[in-house]
Formats: sequence, C-alpha cells, structure tokens
Amino acid sequence: MSIPETMRALVQLHDGYSGTQEGPAIDTVAPYLELREIPVPQPAAGQVLIKVDLAAVNPSDLHFIKGEYGQPRIKDCPAGFEGVGTVVAGDSPFMGQRVSFFATHSGTWADYAMTEAQGLVPCRPDLAAADAAGQIVNPLTAMAMFDIVRESGADSFILNAAGSQLGKLLIGLGRDYGIAPIAVVRRAEQADLLREHGAAEVLITSDEDMMANAAPILRERKPRILLDAVGDQATADLFFAMPNRARWVNYGKLSTTPPQLTQMGQLIFQQKVIEGFWLTRWMKDTAPQKLGAVIAEVQERFVSGKWQTDVAAIVPLADVMQSLPAATKVVDGKVFIKP
Ligand SMILES: NC(=O)c1ccc[n+]([C@@H]2O[C@H](COP(=O)([O-])OP(=O)(O)OC[C@H]3O[C@@H](n4cnc5c(N)ncnc54)[C@H](OP(=O)(O)O)[C@@H]3O)[C@@H](O)[C@H]2O)c1
Repeated sequence: MSIPETMRALVQLHDGYSGTQEGPAIDTVAPYLELREIPVPQPAAGQVLIKVDLAAVNPSDLHFIKGEYGQPRIKDCPAGFEGVGTVVAGDSPFMGQRVSFFATHSGTWADYAMTEAQGLVPCRPDLAAADAAGQIVNPLTAMAMFDIVRESGADSFILNAAGSQLGKLLIGLGRDYGIAPIAVVRRAEQADLLREHGAAEVLITSDEDMMANAAPILRERKPRILLDAVGDQATADLFFAMPNRARWVNYGKLSTTPPQLTQMGQLIFQQKVIEGFWLTRWMKDTAPQKLGAVIAEVQERFVSGKWQTDVAAIVPLADVMQSLPAATKVVDGKVFIKP
C-alpha cells in the first residue's frame, strides 16, 4: 500500500492544560481544533503507522481537547485517542492487519495515526467496525472495574451514568455473571431501557425521593462497590448511605460541581474507601497474559451479541468542525469519526 506524503488531520490549537472544569460537553470545536493537511507521521523504532478506518469520540477526547484531561495537550498534534485501522508501516508482526489501538504519538482523528507497536489489539474478522473502533477504552475499563465488583463478594453493585456506553457494558456483565446492577441515571426515560439491558434496580437522581427510594434497596441488596463516572452530590449521598466497607471508585468527572463529603467519619469507623480508577494505569499494571484473556472475552462478547455498540452518528472527518457538537448531543449512543 503506498502511503501519501500528507494527510488530513484535526490538529489541536493549544498546549498543556486550560485550567477550566467545564466537563466534556461541546457546543463548538473551533476553539480547540482545526482541520489541516499535514505530513503523514514517520514511525520511529518501536512505533507503527496505522491507516485509520474509524475513530471513536469518547468523553476523554472531549475533556482532552478542552485541556481538562489528566495529560497535557500538544499543539499541532492530531487529536483522538482510540480507533481501528490497518498497520501500514513500522516494525510490527501485524503489518497489513486490522487492529484496534490507543494512539500515543499521533491521534486517530486523522487519515493516519501513530502509536507504540506493543499496544496493538488484532481484531477478529467478525468484529464489527464500531465495536473494533471502541474496543479498548470502554470495554477494558468495564472488564477491569467489574473485577473489583466480583472481588467485593457482594451480590450487587451500584453504577451511575448507567445509560452511558460504558454503563451498559457494566450492566451486561452484571446480568451475565449474576451480580445485580443498581443503575443510577439522571433521566427517568432511561429506566425501562436499562432494565431491559439487565439492571435490577434503577434510581433517578432528578427524583427528589431518590435517597428514600435507595434506602430499602441498599438495605436489602448490600452493595459494596459504587462505580462513579459523575462525581456529584447524589453520588456522595449514596456512598454515605451504603453499608460498612463500601468502596467509592471514581473513574469520571461528568459533573462540573464537586460534591460535599458530609460524613468523613465513615472512612475511619466504617472502613469505607474513596479511590480512583484510570485505564492507562490498569493496563500498565496488568500482566500481558491477563490482558490477552480480557481482550479475547471483549471480542467474544461483542461478536456473540452479549454487548453491542449503540451508534449515535458516524461523522466524516471533513465534517467534524461543523457536525461534531450536534452529533455528541444525540443521547444513548456513541459518535465515531470516519476518515
Ligand atoms: N477512568 C477511566 O479509565 C475511564 C475509561 C473509560 C471511560 N471513562 C469515563 O466513563 C464515562 C462514560 O464514558 P462513555 O464513553 O460510556 O460515555 P457516553 O456513552 O458518551 O455517555 C455519557 C453519559 O454520561 C451521562 N452524563 C453526562 N453528564 C452527566 C452529569 N453531569 N450527570 C450525570 N450523568 C451525566 C450522560 O447522561 P444523559 O444521557 O442523561 O446525558 C450519558 O449517559 C465518562 O466519564 C468517561 O470519561 C473513564
């Protein structure tokens, strides 16, 4: 395959962090990105060049381009963490093959992306494009955090932002492994859909009786793990209502208003714990053999229909500047970018 000298890419306009805490919502892309024709990156030792088939748009990408993520932006570098494509150059046993990948050197919102040769995930031929493009960030996080749930030994667990793509993956795991998911959402209209997915209970944060509704559920089901992508007051209130030894695992900051922690004594006297989860750290700490087994289960779950990727929109790369904000406002699905 011949590789052109230049490519289209959505490059970042800023370096570093912005200092804002606005969350992942976007009304415009223009302050952060520009569509440019730039040289195709040249892989150095240990790197590969990938022709991108489809790129994911995750909340982490939107936090990142806004300068609110846990790593600094690099001006003039293409955005986009995750995608699927074909290995076209570099030192890799997967040359010419379709791989899912996390772009570490040049982002996926472009015709070509560049990443470490070591992190490639070869895709089964029967894995659909959208499942492959979003195979790493959410599915591996779901699998990793569900291990925390299983290790808790409880018969149930709580998750919020439960209508998110990741939330639905977690609910599917709870359903299939017999650990009842207690789903927390802010919109009541999501409740039926989540019950169909396998949620045992649904709590609605916009309901003023939420804590009263939660009390008997917590008493009867005794969940020990709270998987939290939101970080708001409703989450803190639920945590303080959970039984002894509850763990609040925060992995996202969708709320822009942080909670007040009203009962810190519970950390001392009830052995409750507040902690964070970041996939990047988990991947570094996880043995390759375990990672391989988790990836095989992820692909099997998608191919067998136990999991599905709900697609809100596929936006052509050339249209991202105009169309991405509206696409991200479609509820209950993921947005992808097609070069
Ligand atoms: N730490 C890690 O390693 C890691 C890895 C993967 C993902 N994540 C995080 O996981 C979360 C979910 O990711 P995703 O790709 O599955 O998301 P997604 O499919 O884009 O869905 C986002 C969800 O968040 C909900 N939401 C947004 N703002 C909210 C708020 N202020 N309060 C309550 N709910 C809110 C939305 O609810 P509505 O439908 O009501 O708008 C929607 O259900 C994100 O926070 C992401 O950053 C973290």
